[in-house]
Amino acid sequence: MTVHTVAGSVAESAVPATGRSGLLAGKRLLVTGVLTKSSIAYHVAQIAQQEGAQLVLTSFGRAMPITEATARELPQRPPVLRLDVTSSEDLAGLADAVHGELGALDGIVHSIAFAPQGALGGAFLDTPWPDVATALEISAYSFKALVTACLPLMPDGASVVGLDFDAGQAWPSYDWMGVSKAALEAVTRYLALYLGERRIRVNLVAAGFLRSLAARSIPGSARLEEIWRTKPPIAWDVNDPGPTAKACAVLLSDWLPSTTGEILHADGGLHAVVVLTGARAIRCPSCAPSCA
Ligand SMILES: NC(=O)c1ccc[n+]([C@@H]2O[C@H](COP(=O)([O-])OP(=O)(O)OC[C@H]3O[C@@H](n4cnc5c(N)ncnc54)[C@H](O)[C@@H]3O)[C@@H](O)[C@H]2O)c1
Repeated sequence: MTVHTVAGSVAESAVPATGRSGLLAGKRLLVTGVLTKSSIAYHVAQIAQQEGAQLVLTSFGRAMPITEATARELPQRPPVLRLDVTSSEDLAGLADAVHGELGALDGIVHSIAFAPQGALGGAFLDTPWPDVATALEISAYSFKALVTACLPLMPDGASVVGLDFDAGQAWPSYDWMGVSKAALEAVTRYLALYLGERRIRVNLVAAGFLRSLAARSIPGSARLEEIWRTKPPIAWDVNDPGPTAKACAVLLSDWLPSTTGEILHADGGLHAVVVLTGARAIRCPSCAPSCA
């Protein structure tokens, strides 16, 4: 396996790819955002290992020991590297740290978001700029920062995946995180533009609501949860990140080689339908009208 540096030179990978079978056999992946077992990234890591990938995780600060404990629950315990995406020092040291563990990177998962409480929960009209700036930096700009930090380790054809919440419409309570997701979607398109020459694919998975720590900390998240419990055309389980993780795995694999700048929805189809005021758009013939 060869590794292309940002400048275009080529280095030999220090660590050989794994020889197992599966959708992601031999892939070396960096997965950010594993905190607890409810983290979407935990489920991405789990399925990636089951499909033959070798991983490193990242975490930071007080979250580090929590991530370390959660990592022990995975099929194989991956190393956990320090990365606060707002730290230029952490970003500068990331490529060396990953190189020491995996040699090169065939894929990256960005599963990171944060907004101060004042930027969520209905305070949209009063949120001060510093809170907005924090949300945008950690939730959107960090995608670019993470990818460029890792670029020296990425061979042509590598895949980058981020986690999105459909920013095509305004959601109750989601407020400046919704704006940050709109920015993340735009960042994705520009990364796709600038990295396409090297066939590096950059895509998002837009997931439906899932009861992670981050989601539950949104004031008024019960309203979002209710929408996702009742409205998607395909029933959506807010406690199951599995469908979202599978979508990430496919994007990390070699099976979508011409797909970049894309938003793949793993949301039960909610983005595609008109949300009616009743519970479901279609009544089940066997029990209508009671199931509506
Ligand atoms: N849960 C949902 O309903 C849902 C739906 C769609 C998309 N998403 C997105 O999925 C991603 C993961 O969220 P989750 O729901 O699994 O929640 P989570 O709380 O498990 O994960 C959020 C992660 O962001 C990390 N993080 C925050 N600030 C950071 C920083 N400065 N540097 C590095 N890491 C930092 C946290 O440590 C945590 O691991 C986020 O981008 C989120 O917006 C979540």
